[in-house]
Amino acid sequence: MLKINQVSASIAGIPVLRAIHTEFHAGQLLAIVGRNGAGKTTFLRAIMGLLPLSAGSIVMHGEDLSKIAPHRRTEFGIGYAPEDRVMFPTFTVEENLRLPCEVLGLSKHETDRRLARVLEVVPQLEVMLPRSGAALSGGQGKMAALGRALMAGNKLILLDEPFQGLAPVLAAHYAESLRRLHQLAPELCIVVTESNRSLLRDLPDATLTLERGELIATE
Ligand SMILES: Nc1ncnc2c1ncn2[C@@H]1O[C@H](COP(=O)(O)OP(=O)(O)OP(=O)(O)O)[C@@H](O)[C@H]1O
Ligand SMILES: [Mg+2]
Repeated sequence: MLKINQVSASIAGIPVLRAIHTEFHAGQLLAIVGRNGAGKTTFLRAIMGLLPLSAGSIVMHGEDLSKIAPHRRTEFGIGYAPEDRVMFPTFTVEENLRLPCEVLGLSKHETDRRLARVLEVVPQLEVMLPRSGAALSGGQGKMAALGRALMAGNKLILLDEPFQGLAPVLAAHYAESLRRLHQLAPELCIVVTESNRSLLRDLPDATLTLERGELIATE
């Protein structure tokens, strides 16, 4: 579904991703693990087009994403929950969730349908919907960010270190949500990064390991 062909990228002239070559498949729950600074966030940002590639290409369903502006990549059904989540504080949680669908120009009917599915996957969000985006705890913000990524991403969702800093109970809820999602949307590819692989337990069905910007193992 998503082909990553020999992708390299640099930040401030320093190579951060080195010739990464791999493929993401529909229906996969894939983990990308690596120490702090290994390049996990940079890899997801490169897929989202938030940083230019210095070499290689990223191809989704046969289309070279480098020709697609970053703000148009959600049209490919890619959802992204960044490490630092960012909810718009002056919007309610519901407005934050609906926003990506509005940007995509989806009908109210389709947006309502997606919101209903998100609430099925992350039922904890229901009570948060009317609250301000600024009123969430760190853990609640992670749940909301998952919901928002799902509103846009019906093919691929990229979740950057969702388990970091979650209290054990919330981490268990989050993992349950991912399992539920995996069942409810069997074609969706779910990608989760993590520096502490033990937090992922038996969740992923495949794991890529990054070290200093290089893909060193695929399991
Ligand atoms: N804005 C930046 N300016 C300079 N160097 C950067 C910047 N962002 C990232 N880097 C460098 O790029 C490398 C990869 O960083 P990245 O954030 O992708 O790692 P990560 O695997 O996500 O780490 P973490 O587990 O801490 O989130 C690191 O060596 C980092 O120092
Ligand atoms: Mg990171």
